Amino acid sequence: MKIIMLGAPGAGKGTQAKMIADKYSIPHISTGDIFRANIKNGTELGKEAKKYMDNGQLVPDELTVKILLDRVANDDCKNGYVLDGFPRTIPQAEVLDSELNKLGDKIDYAINVDVPDENIVNRMSGRRACVNCGATYHIVHIPPKKEGICDKCGNELILRDDDKPETVLKRLSVYHEQTQPLIDFYNAKNVLKTVDGTVDSAEVFGQITAILG
Ligand code: AP5
Ligand code: MG
Repeated sequence: MKIIMLGAPGAGKGTQAKMIADKYSIPHISTGDIFRANIKNGTELGKEAKKYMDNGQLVPDELTVKILLDRVANDDCKNGYVLDGFPRTIPQAEVLDSELNKLGDKIDYAINVDVPDENIVNRMSGRRACVNCGATYHIVHIPPKKEGICDKCGNELILRDDDKPETVLKRLSVYHEQTQPLIDFYNAKNVLKTVDGTVDSAEVFGQITAILG
């Protein structure tokens, strides 16, 4: 099963993608997590990506597409995957589509987690993320068992650099301009499913499993 998560920054793509990956035993692939791991490790890719991410802009397609295609070529992706944060532009979606086409394959579901802009800024300021394993929490809605510590791997939780309110607003405007058109793109392919992302995360997951089966 090949799944794409669509939705604004902070809609809960990562939260839901992890739950999907666990339930259906497929890898969760987040381009944002890949970039953050590279930033943490001080790689050239990380240095380049950071320039864009800190301003709430997208990392150029040339860099992003290569990383993603390399990742999905891994053996663990044979039975499918859930993509979180990719594609984010029409050109990215077109490359993915044509690469899958060459293999006689396609995306099965594009799940659009729908959350209005008004809810987003509040969610982001409360988010805490684990740079080690990518798990995300919310200090009010989804708190870790021990404050500041990841339940899954015991590492320290951080507030992401791009979760400052002014950067979040920029990310939202970039989303509307460059990523929202993907909703029509996948609708035209008859794989789009929209879920209400404003409810409790377990309820959002319930809507998703009703779709995936
Ligand atoms: P990325 O890491 O993908 O960030 P994003 O799309 O902005 O999305 P977020 O990770 O911020 O939100 P999310 O939807 O995953 O929400 P989460 O589950 O954490 O990308 C970061 C940057 O990398 C981009 O800005 C760009 O520069 C670059 N980049 C990445 N991919 C790229 C690409 N393909 N092309 C170009 N550039 C790229 O949830 C948010 C918070 O809400 C959490 O605290 C969570 O606990 C809480 N929460 C979740 N669900 C609920 C709920 N139902 N109710 C209440 N709280 C909830
Ligand atoms: Mg995320």
